[in-house]
Amino acid sequence: MATWTADQLPDMIGRTVMITGASRGIGLVTTRELARAGAHVVLAVRDVDKARRAVAGMRGTFDVRQLDVADLDSVRAFAQSCPGGIDVLINNAGVMDIPAARTAQGLDVQTATNYFGPFVLTDLLLPKLTDRVVMVSSQLHRFARLNLDDLDWRTRKYNPLAAYESSKLAVILFSLELQRRLTAAGSPVRSVVAHPGVARTGLVTHSKLNIVNRLPFLVQDVEQGALPLLYAATQDVPGNAYVGPDGLFSFTGYPLIRKPSRAGQDPALAKRLWQATAALTGTGA
Ligand SMILES: NC(=O)c1ccc[n+]([C@@H]2O[C@H](COP(=O)([O-])OP(=O)(O)OC[C@H]3O[C@@H](n4cnc5c(N)ncnc54)[C@H](OP(=O)(O)O)[C@@H]3O)[C@@H](O)[C@H]2O)c1
Repeated sequence: MATWTADQLPDMIGRTVMITGASRGIGLVTTRELARAGAHVVLAVRDVDKARRAVAGMRGTFDVRQLDVADLDSVRAFAQSCPGGIDVLINNAGVMDIPAARTAQGLDVQTATNYFGPFVLTDLLLPKLTDRVVMVSSQLHRFARLNLDDLDWRTRKYNPLAAYESSKLAVILFSLELQRRLTAAGSPVRSVVAHPGVARTGLVTHSKLNIVNRLPFLVQDVEQGALPLLYAATQDVPGNAYVGPDGLFSFTGYPLIRKPSRAGQDPALAKRLWQATAALTGTGA
């Protein structure tokens, strides 16, 4: 597994992959490579014109659909209008370390984009999924202090980086509980997690952490950053695998199955988080 690259993608002809946040960054590279391998790729994006421009000239077949993953009304309308037969759902869209803001439903935008939206989208699309869901996390989940009583940053002072860290631990715990539920129901669908390590994209440009983009030995390019997503989406990995780069601190390198933080492996915490999220979003009970 040491040097797995996109050249080793299997033949994806006849497979449909849906990916959120596909119009730039890691999502766009993942889209291009899966389409090149033959997959029909559904791009779920907030700006359809931008996404159409991004895939223009790429080899493959694409369907571009409007989705604002932070807006739960948009997520519900999107899921309802989706045809079935989606083999793989990749919850890639994300924001990091952004200022406080609220969605149309009054939720914290960062947590809604990275966690509440993907939670609701996945739950609603599950009956239409045949193979797997890939959640996209970050090594920063290791610093998270998840507050189940205030997932939506209402009673605490909002901390943009802590909100990112918590949202990325939440997606790992979501995958853990989702896989438990799928297994209990005898479903062939699996839930897995990928993280890109540290990849040079637009994600951190407005953040203090943008310094990493200037430290080449700590950062890989976007092509390499997409490899864990491509690996998790196509290889025969076990349910709930955590796939990330194989290098030091999992910042750079080639895809390898690793372990998330201890909190990310806590089934009781995952169950409680699911219940709290279901109560907050009105989905997944
Ligand atoms: N880059 C890294 O080092 C790194 C490390 C760890 C984890 N990650 C994760 O990897 C994923 C991809 O990040 P990236 O580095 O490729 O960042 P990026 O270049 O900033 O791309 C983020 C994508 O998410 C989309 N997005 C943001 N909010 C959205 C919303 N409300 N609805 C729909 N789409 C939305 C953006 O759409 P627009 O084009 O419309 O803005 C964009 O396509 C994220 O989940 C991120 O947390 C990245």
